Amino acid sequence: MAVTLVTGGTGTLGRPTVNRLRDDGQEVRVLSRQAGAGRVVGDLATGAGIREALVGVDAVLHLATARRPGDAAATRILLDAAIDAGVSHLVYISIVGIDDIPLAYYREKLECERMIAAAPVPHTILRATQFHDLMATIFAAQTYSPVLFAPSISVQPIAVDEVGGRLVELVDSAPVGRVDDIGGPEKLTGGELAAKWKAAKGSRRAVWPLRLPGMTFQAFASGHNVVPGEPFGRVTFSEYLAERFGAPG
Ligand SMILES: NC(=O)c1ccc[n+]([C@@H]2O[C@H](COP(=O)([O-])OP(=O)(O)OC[C@H]3O[C@@H](n4cnc5c(N)ncnc54)[C@H](OP(=O)(O)O)[C@@H]3O)[C@@H](O)[C@H]2O)c1
Repeated sequence: MAVTLVTGGTGTLGRPTVNRLRDDGQEVRVLSRQAGAGRVVGDLATGAGIREALVGVDAVLHLATARRPGDAAATRILLDAAIDAGVSHLVYISIVGIDDIPLAYYREKLECERMIAAAPVPHTILRATQFHDLMATIFAAQTYSPVLFAPSISVQPIAVDEVGGRLVELVDSAPVGRVDDIGGPEKLTGGELAAKWKAAKGSRRAVWPLRLPGMTFQAFASGHNVVPGEPFGRVTFSEYLAERFGAPG
């Protein structure tokens, strides 16, 4: 049976993706810095355990992120080991709009995409919009603020389970390079997201629109982070909130 190694398989996107791969009957190895059932221990920051983790692996689903500088170096380590291990397909998750939004994290994602595209490992790259969980984290982080700040931009949040479903389809298919971007079912302003968050949490705080100076905010405000055309995702932010908090949303 083909073996798939999932980097970041313990993360927000990784957990539902690994469940879907296993439901699909695939043999999955989860790379993690911490030992656990079904995991292989390895650290993409240092390279420790990475070559061992790739022994006998057919496909790699690369979802790991440090969420700070270091992802490009980690991807280089993974790619070099994958080339030597003869991996036949590497699938990478990236983010919509990274060529046009000058965020340092996005520049590093772009560098990862370029390295993967240039490497002699057959690959597929999927870009997705912001996850519902990220939007929820932005509001949850404001617990002690008297008002709820809501960025004056539109976002198109998507459910991680739906992103995971698409990734499983891609791992099961032939490598094709960059595929069509995916986004959630609705394009909502920060204020609309905040209103849904307040309804789900029973909060009465006022919502304050937030505009920031600079090119990064302007790039988001120009809509580079959303996907034109028919949406891929079906699960709305309200449905995500209801599932997570048991509230009507
Ligand atoms: N958040 C969004 O809205 C969004 C949107 C589109 C695309 N994406 C992309 O989706 C991917 C997954 O994001 P996420 O939110 O699920 O991330 P996350 O919850 O922060 O999980 C990060 C994962 O990376 C692993 N990791 C971190 N450093 C590592 C290292 N040195 N060696 C090995 N593994 C390491 C962690 O594993 P251990 O802690 O178990 O070692 C963990 O499983 C990222 O590539 C991100 O850029 C995110």
